[in-house]
Amino acid sequence: MSYMNRRDFLKSSSALLAASTLPLSLIEIAYADTSQNFTFAYISDAHIQHIKGKEFVRNWDRGLIRAVAETNLMDPKPDFVMFGGDMGQLGKREEINHGLELLAPLTYQKHFVIGEHDYYLDLGEYWQKIIGPLHYSFDHKGVHFVVLNSILTYDDWTYNRWPSAEERMLQMADLDNPNGSPFMVGEKQRAWLKQDLAKINHATPLVVFSHSPLQKIYRGWNFWTEDAEQVQALLAPFKKVTVLYGHVHQIQYNQIGTISFHSAMATAWPWPYPATYAQAQSFLPKLTVEMNRADPFFERDATGWQYIDVYSGHVREHYQLAENTRRTVAFNPKTGQPEDTRYQAPDRRLLSQNHY
Ligand SMILES: [Fe+2]
Ligand SMILES: [Fe+2]
Repeated sequence: MSYMNRRDFLKSSSALLAASTLPLSLIEIAYADTSQNFTFAYISDAHIQHIKGKEFVRNWDRGLIRAVAETNLMDPKPDFVMFGGDMGQLGKREEINHGLELLAPLTYQKHFVIGEHDYYLDLGEYWQKIIGPLHYSFDHKGVHFVVLNSILTYDDWTYNRWPSAEERMLQMADLDNPNGSPFMVGEKQRAWLKQDLAKINHATPLVVFSHSPLQKIYRGWNFWTEDAEQVQALLAPFKKVTVLYGHVHQIQYNQIGTISFHSAMATAWPWPYPATYAQAQSFLPKLTVEMNRADPFFERDATGWQYIDVYSGHVREHYQLAENTRRTVAFNPKTGQPEDTRYQAPDRRLLSQNHY
């Protein structure tokens, strides 16, 4: 016989409750003509980790399984699902295959961004064979979408420094690692981006996906893209730009000129905020209201997924948390920046439609 004390009972009741409110983010894009508005789902940083044979770290599997199940139940249905990178932990084929297997039940079209954990073993070879290109663009309902591979680094680091591909992968997977190297989009891809954008009218809303933030936050953890300013310069002429990124495993948002930045949570685990942890200087985006983590010792707290409404060329990002209060960050046309609808928006009526 087992006895449950009040604390355990409360814990298991909240776990049951949480099981009905899952970890995702939904992203909504909306227009003045509401028939053009649409939604897509955004799942990121699954970090599927191979142990041996058919064994994988169960907790990371569970996070992705929950996000996929919730995405399939979404109403309204998303137009597509974006996976934001770091599908695997150490870039192994087993991890990418298993990640794809867990994503397979999704009933929607899928797009993918590559993360450093997917890349630095074979430099994207298997990913390109089984998933597709590492950078590309597409158009959907009047919005131009661009996917970048932002986790490249200096050729010397990538090609000349490591005795094996496994060693290179391990070095890049490490935080606070003096042997690491900063991420970058790189000259070649920036030239491609310039060319891709040349044919797009500046009034067309632009949504750019990257894995690392295309802004500089904290170098020690590679919450950083070395050529962020150069990429921002290519986006700056457009009137409505949103950059969506994974990698940071926490909620961040910011506005630089016409560019709104939104991060995604991970389905695997939360990272702390650099501002509360860093021994070095950090530049956490100034608009960020850090999350209230109900229990910092509970690893599923602050994990989740997101759904995104696209409206009037701006995005409204709904963070769906496994074990915490849902959050919505939306562009406020009055202030010209993204704001947290619960904690910041001076006129919440503007932002509070359709909250899940
Ligand atoms: Fe990650
Ligand atoms: Fe990452």
